[in-house]
Amino acid sequence: MRLLIINGRVTDPSQGFDGAADVLIEDGRIKTFTKGERIGVETEQARQARVIDAGGMWVVPGLIDMHTHLREPGFEHKETIKTGALAALRGGFTTVCAMPNTNPVNDNAGITEFILKKSQAEGGASVMPIGAVTKGQKGEELAPLYAMQEAGCVAFSDDGRPVASPIIMRRALEYAKGLDALIISHAEDPSLADSGVMNEGLMSVTLGLRGQPSVAEEVMIYRDIALAELTGGRLHIAHVSTRGGVRVIRQARERGLKVTAETCPHYFTLTEEAVAGYNANAKVNPPLRTAADVLAIKEGLRDGIIDVIATDHAPHGREKRTRHFDEAPAGISGLETALSLCLELLEEGVLTGPELVRKLSLNPAGILRTGGGTLREGAPAELAIVDPSASYVLDAEALISLGKNTPFDGRRMKGRVVMTITGERISEWA
Ligand code: DOR
Repeated sequence: MRLLIINGRVTDPSQGFDGAADVLIEDGRIKTFTKGERIGVETEQARQARVIDAGGMWVVPGLIDMHTHLREPGFEHKETIKTGALAALRGGFTTVCAMPNTNPVNDNAGITEFILKKSQAEGGASVMPIGAVTKGQKGEELAPLYAMQEAGCVAFSDDGRPVASPIIMRRALEYAKGLDALIISHAEDPSLADSGVMNEGLMSVTLGLRGQPSVAEEVMIYRDIALAELTGGRLHIAHVSTRGGVRVIRQARERGLKVTAETCPHYFTLTEEAVAGYNANAKVNPPLRTAADVLAIKEGLRDGIIDVIATDHAPHGREKRTRHFDEAPAGISGLETALSLCLELLEEGVLTGPELVRKLSLNPAGILRTGGGTLREGAPAELAIVDPSASYVLDAEALISLGKNTPFDGRRMKGRVVMTITGERISEWA
């Protein structure tokens, strides 16, 4: 099958390219990338291809989400591998990395293989499993990292909860170093977090909710960076939400350490104010913070301290709506809103188009060492076509994800993914 995408603005940070280009896809691979020249529709190549006129559109490498919660096995009422992988395509993601906090936990090669087989059978975005650091994510005993890596895990994390014990985290980083594997830290000191359900501050006092101070994140980032320095293990900090967290990572970088970091769209678009009225859809872990934190996150994105924007897609079911705020599960369904929220960063001048695309595709591919995030000739055809001028009001119920839990319901969204291409498969939306 041949596909010719013409007239678009094509941004491919892997080739330092941002401009007018045509892309010819043949048998699921990038065949030609013209860089400035146009492949005429009159040519032989074009006559044999399906031509997609991307005039006014933005053509980018398929986005790679290094932080997704698919709920299968165990919580299929919240999300299945199939619905999550389809929601990913709708959001422009051609690859998602599945966090291990399923039931059973992905802490052995059998579960890893199950996730891979199921996702390959279902279609949708590619799913790359992230294995647990400890058995059952209990923080007590290391999971069999080598066997899980052999089975296909691209990184290890106990995300959803921290690795509380410093000695276990030290061992994990030492072991991971031997495997050249990546450890992803859910940075939260449990004793300081003190079961807080929102950010600690005036707002939590006013609402009478238990607060989780930002220092709980900052302290844990500091600890994990110190342990990465000691062991030489590769460390990535998940969902950075605080000014202090950005500062600690910046200091580490200035000392030449290779720690990498991600944030999520909700941490640069919302503050703790979104929790007003006990809105459980704005309950997320780490919690939404203050305007000063949002500013620091944007600075971190701008100056490259935060390498990646990930969704932390965390779909939940009815329990999100029916339980009191304290009891409701934390998380935001994020795959289908991420790109639109990121486009707000372009409008505000925080990032340029190529910088944004880099944080959503090339950087995660580089950190995970999975390949992808490129439109180079010969690479698998994984790309998204975005209408940047589209504007619509989000209807949570219309999300493909089973998780309708989003604090962005009713928000005017910028831009829309109109087509996602994964090899020979074309998914398109009006
Ligand atoms: O808000 C969150 N939800 N944060 C996490 O770390 C886990 C996630 C989930 O699995 O629901």
